[in-house]
Amino acid sequence: MSRLDIFINRMVSQRACIDFALAETARLSGPVFELGLGNGRTYDHLREKAGAENVFVFERAVESNPASTPDPEMVVLGDVRDTLPKSLERFGPTVRFAHADLGGHNLEKNDTFARLVSPLIEPVLAVGGIVVSSDKMYFSALKELPLPEGAVDGRCFIYQRVS
Ligand SMILES: C[S@@+](CC[C@H](N)C(=O)[O-])C[C@H]1O[C@@H](n2cnc3c(N)ncnc32)[C@H](O)[C@@H]1O
Repeated sequence: MSRLDIFINRMVSQRACIDFALAETARLSGPVFELGLGNGRTYDHLREKAGAENVFVFERAVESNPASTPDPEMVVLGDVRDTLPKSLERFGPTVRFAHADLGGHNLEKNDTFARLVSPLIEPVLAVGGIVVSSDKMYFSALKELPLPEGAVDGRCFIYQRVS
């Protein structure tokens, strides 16, 4: 499979999983967390569907396309290893949906970071809340859900806090 195929599968899967998670959590009133702004593509999709006033963006350095750059008050600037624990104090376990796309090209490093960040994401989720991630995560109490139609195995992962 070419890198182009892998990229397309990732984009298609992100959209399918984000749309699924937003529909599944529509009855929850808490915020949406975008973990990793990057270019801002998935942020743009999230704000279009969930409203910019509900999407908090966690990023260590904002370098997104100006057309998809959040307002400064919606950016939680810094390393998620510091900002996620602080967000638990600020928001409590209220997050409706967290989209985690923090990885780069090194799959081994991504896996190491996923192990590290999973226990920081897990406690911010509301009951019924969902995490969509580009890497396999290591949660202790969240349930992994089957991928929705249109998503490609291994390109996205979905987890839910069921109780
Ligand atoms: C793959 S990009 C996100 C792409 C984005 N979903 C999009 O659609 O454009 C990953 C982003 O995560 C950010 N990131 C990686 N590790 C981080 C960390 N420890 N704390 C905060 N941001 C981090 C990087 O700076 C980068 O902008």
